[in-house]
Amino acid sequence: MSYDFRAELATAASDVEAALERLLTAEALSGPGAPPERLVAAMRHGSLAGGKRLRPLLVRQAAAIFDVGPSEALIAGLAVEAIHCYSLIHDDLPAMDDDDLRRGKPTVHRAYDEATAILAGDGLLTHAFAWLARTDAHPDADVRIRLVAELAAGAGLGGMVGGQMADIEGESGFLTERGIADMQAMKTGALIRAAVRMGATLGRASDEEMAALTGYAEAAGRAFQLADDILDVTATAEAMGKATGKDAERNKQTLVARIGLEAAQRRLAELVHDAVGRLHRFDQRADGLRATVRFFAERQS
Ligand code: IPE
Ligand code: IPE
Ligand code: MG
Ligand code: MG
Ligand code: MG
Repeated sequence: MSYDFRAELATAASDVEAALERLLTAEALSGPGAPPERLVAAMRHGSLAGGKRLRPLLVRQAAAIFDVGPSEALIAGLAVEAIHCYSLIHDDLPAMDDDDLRRGKPTVHRAYDEATAILAGDGLLTHAFAWLARTDAHPDADVRIRLVAELAAGAGLGGMVGGQMADIEGESGFLTERGIADMQAMKTGALIRAAVRMGATLGRASDEEMAALTGYAEAAGRAFQLADDILDVTATAEAMGKATGKDAERNKQTLVARIGLEAAQRRLAELVHDAVGRLHRFDQRADGLRATVRFFAERQS
């Protein structure tokens, strides 16, 4: 039977939701003191319900190539998703993209307030790494340390955070086509790359296997943000669960703005082709990753 992408995505998403539901409680988040209830509620608002959960899916699919099962890939996937949710909470803040709608609901700073949204992001960021330190992330401490380093590299200054800075600076400047591609590889690509590499790390991939999967992830990450930028122009807020038409309004430096919609759509198809081409050595074990990058380009939300 051929690979059923929709079923796999639905299962991965419900596993992530159930685990977040369990981990995002005052009891599970407690430290030397008790977590403020309002902050726990804001973290839940920003991470439960509505997300597609594509990054945990990538962790799971990359791990599956090496016969690592979904339950063994769950904590690593959760950690990436928590970082992603924090990045969205901060991305929507008035000082950044200033958005009121996310995943079909008011953004965290609209539902709560700005200070709470900033701290909810900080909370998700911090606990993502706490989860990776747990033995259920992986029994081998060496693997856990590699997962931490991989996620930090994807989320940090050479990754998502640095890319977000370049995106904001770009609003009052001009980026070349190359500059846009580099900025997007950081702000969005780096977490997608981390997700795939964390799955491969769980599977103890060889250097050659890791290189091939990294090539896939980098092309897929570019495809993902390019599709997001295309959908900002072509889709409705209702379908997306977030405002559209925002990139032109804010002078966001996107490939759609630089090369036009049709050329962007052609580029998207090339990136999907490139990503799939990196997987040839993995035969049908990589059907999940193939389906996911195709979904990146075909998605309507
Ligand atoms: C949106 O990511 C932000 C970008 C990196 C473009 P997703 O489209 O994966 O958002 P959710 O998690 O499904 O809401
Ligand atoms: C978001 O890019 C990238 C992040 C690191 C959060 P966008 O700003 O285009 O994402 P949306 O369109 O708000 O989801
Ligand atoms: Mg943004
Ligand atoms: Mg945004
Ligand atoms: Mg966008």
